Formats: sequence, structure tokens, C-alpha cells
Amino acid sequence: MKNLAILISGRGSNMESLIKATRDGRIRNAQAALVISNIADAPGLHTASKLGVETLVLDHRGKKREEHDRQMAAEIDARNMDLICLAGYMRLLSTWFTQEYENRILNIHPSLLPAFPGLAAQQQAIDHGVKFSGCTVHIVDEHLDHGPIVAQSVVPVLASDTPESLASKILVEEHRIYPEAVDFLLNGRFRIDGRRVQAVDA
Ligand code: GRF
Repeated sequence: MKNLAILISGRGSNMESLIKATRDGRIRNAQAALVISNIADAPGLHTASKLGVETLVLDHRGKKREEHDRQMAAEIDARNMDLICLAGYMRLLSTWFTQEYENRILNIHPSLLPAFPGLAAQQQAIDHGVKFSGCTVHIVDEHLDHGPIVAQSVVPVLASDTPESLASKILVEEHRIYPEAVDFLLNGRFRIDGRRVQAVDA
């Protein structure tokens, strides 16, 4: 059984979808064992507790980035986590942390990377006038919203879309592809070749 740690800062809907996927068989041979939030009143903490997952609050304020990340790492290592899933975790990670867990951190971002990294990706997509956007699950490296891409899904952007309506459409796809990507990385056979994550036939 593999252990997932999930890092959040807010609502936690992707966290919830990952936890549920470990229980209904979409993510095989894994349990969501720890949720860490850097924000004490993140609504996702209640959701995780209700679902019976251990939660921890590690406030980042007043600490250097790497110092905070080393505290997270101590908690993660004490519990033997196999994979770290960022799910609306709104802090940049230190290079130390990304290297310590190389190829073992995943993120979901609400755009088709490399388009529109960073904050307000849905607003960026609308402002740019793209006809399609979507979401990306990627391996986390030391650069923001940058590492090798594991999965993507596309949604149309309509003239009538607002950032909120686009975010809702994308979120449906996020909740579908993030569990699929986690299952693939934990249970599939793949090779990371530069930026390309490729399935390897058994
Ligand atoms: C999602 O859109 C995710 O792609 C982005 O932040 C949002 C988090 O939403 N990284 P939630 O907390 O998972 O509901």
C-alpha cells in the first residue's frame, strides 16, 4: 500500500477527489494518509477530517521558505509517504524540497501548460482569447508550473465564459484526470525521458 500526502491551502476539492479515488478503486493500492495545510482555516482541513484523514497545519508565516519546507519534510518522512500531491497549495516550494522529492511531487494546474502558469490561469486564458483551455497534471520541479507533463484535458472557452464559469468546467476535468495521473504514476510502468513521461508496455 502506497501513502499519499496531499498539500492544500484552501477549498480542497482536488484533495477530496483524490481521497475518494483511493477508496473507490480509481487509485489502486494507495491511501491518502496525510493532509498538510499552510493555512489554519483552510476549508479542506474539515473535509479531510470528516473523511478520516490525518491533518496537520504548518503555518509558513515568519519562516524562511526552505525552513518551512524542511518542517513539512520531517512530517512527511516520519510517515513514510510515497507521493506528494499539491492540490491548491498556494506556496512556492524551495529548490531543496523539489530536489529532495524529485519525481515524487505532482501538481494540478488549471490551464494547458505551458500556457498561463501562475495565478488566475482562467482569467489569463480569457484575456488571451484562447478558444480552448483545460488542466494539466505535472511532475513538480524547481520552476513554477513547469515539470514534465503527466496528463492534460481540454475544455472549450466560450465567448460567454467568465473566469468563474471556465473554472467550474475545468474543475470537472481536474477531478477526473488527477486521480488517473496518480494511479498511473503509482501503478503503471513509465519512464521519464527529459520532459516526456511515457508509458512503457509491460
Ligand atoms: C484548482 O483549480 C487547481 O488546479 C489549482 O488551484 C485550485 C484548487 O482548488 N492549483 P481546490 O482547492 O482543489 O478545490
